[in-house]
Amino acid sequence: MATKILDHGKIERNVTLLLVLSLITVAIGGIVEIAPLFWIDSTVEKVQGMRPYTPLELAGRNIYIREGCYNCHSQMIRPFRDEVERYGHYSLAAESMYDHPFQWGSKRTGPDLARVGGRYSDEWHVQHMVDPRAVVPGSIMPSYAFLKERDLDVRHLDKHLQALKWAGVPYTDAEISAAIADALAQADPDADAADMKKRYPKAQARDFDGDPKRVTEMDALVAYLQMLGTLVDTKAAEPVETAR
Ligand code: HEC
Repeated sequence: MATKILDHGKIERNVTLLLVLSLITVAIGGIVEIAPLFWIDSTVEKVQGMRPYTPLELAGRNIYIREGCYNCHSQMIRPFRDEVERYGHYSLAAESMYDHPFQWGSKRTGPDLARVGGRYSDEWHVQHMVDPRAVVPGSIMPSYAFLKERDLDVRHLDKHLQALKWAGVPYTDAEISAAIADALAQADPDADAADMKKRYPKAQARDFDGDPKRVTEMDALVAYLQMLGTLVDTKAAEPVETAR
């Protein structure tokens, strides 16, 4: 019998040899995955249009987290054909770069919400939150009607922006000091939202919950939902992707 360079029988019977060779194999796999990260500056692609959340969107996002919407909804469209055809362009890393914590989620009892912005009218969202079965018969989503009755607590929004700034979100000092006023201006149809819109391009300012006299938690949540997935120009991001 010809001498074998690698005698498998020997390796499998010698625990130390098996361990050493296994470690070498795993190390090679690890280096191949980890080493490239030392030479690229960023794993987040450069995109047009991504900006930090407006104070009102941020308040809506806090309600989304408080109510545990992430238990049933993901915000992460995977780059597979079935997902892209159903939900739209797959999620880009840049789209969650200002999320602390991110809302990718791990369970889809309901649909992915990463690009739900602009898909329905505000009235649809309010109606759906108040009584999901009224617009989607057979829906198992719980009702969140109370959000319409609760005034939005804006008192700590400036501090929240400050905390996010410490975590690396590029809020300016002007944005932090105007946070509370900006939140109210975005949901009040009579307010002058011009400054707010200058600070946050593509921000949508209007009465979201159908009750122009009050700024409620429903206003904030709908403002957040209507923004989701609308900031980044995914068409402009495509050349960057295909160039790789
Ligand atoms: C118990 C699971 C569950 C929870 C919790 C839940 N949802 Fe849903 N959601 C669903 C299901 C199921 C659907 C699909 C049927 C429907 O449209 O009602 C859905 C649909 C939706 C839709 C429509 C999406 C689309 O593309 O048609 C939105 C928007 C939405 N949910 C937002 C929320 C928000 C915001 C919260 C938290 C306040 C929340 N959901 C909490 C289960 C849930």
